[in-house]
Amino acid sequence: MIETERLLLREYTPDDYDALYEIMSDPETMQHYPAPFDEERTRRWIEWNLDNYAQYGFGLWAVVLKETGEFIGDCGLTLQNIDGEMLPEIGYHIHKKYQKRGFAKEAARAVRDWAFLNTKYRALYSYMKYTNEGSRRTAEAVGMKKVKEYPDPKNTISYAFSVTREEWIHKKEKDGTDNS
Ligand SMILES: CC(C)(COP(=O)(O)OP(=O)(O)OC[C@H]1O[C@@H](n2cnc3c(N)ncnc32)[C@H](O)[C@@H]1OP(=O)(O)O)[C@@H](O)C(=O)NCCC(=O)NCCS
Repeated sequence: MIETERLLLREYTPDDYDALYEIMSDPETMQHYPAPFDEERTRRWIEWNLDNYAQYGFGLWAVVLKETGEFIGDCGLTLQNIDGEMLPEIGYHIHKKYQKRGFAKEAARAVRDWAFLNTKYRALYSYMKYTNEGSRRTAEAVGMKKVKEYPDPKNTISYAFSVTREEWIHKKEKDGTDNS
């Protein structure tokens, strides 16, 4: 369980299906994906993350509001194929009614810190379709810079963003207790 100022990140359970389906089946939310998810794909998303927890000790975690316990999306670490390499990726999805309130940044920064403290990865990545400005700006807010632009059959062009462990340590030292 990861706690931030306003959020808790916890493991998915099959009970999250209905709330997750509302997000992943929404065409507007999923406009930068090849297609919105159907029921089967949403079920597999939860199963994939339960497998990730068992296999790697991390995955995408359910993001819930501390105040109400409401499920508002997910954020976490998974291994993703980024231009042919399997790399640790911070991913995020937030329900459209909660977007643009800083929740993705807050969750993704906590995942970045968790990953550098609990894994040995030397760098963390986020990748997205070139049109996905919200995702790109969330990556930047986590301290990532664009490291690659490459053709990707599902995205036409994908951008890869990354922050290294050294950059993260340097920023933490510079900022003192600042949480960004
Ligand atoms: C990407 C996503 C998770 C961002 O969630 P969010 O909670 O709205 O993000 P935040 O409020 O923390 O904002 C993070 C930054 O992105 C910017 N941003 C958020 N949505 C944006 C949008 N639609 N267009 C442009 N900028 C956007 C914010 O202004 C903020 O920038 P700043 O740091 O310069 O202030 C959300 O839009 C989403 O769930 N999208 C659909 C799923 C998706 O595409 N996930 C990424 C897959 S690669």
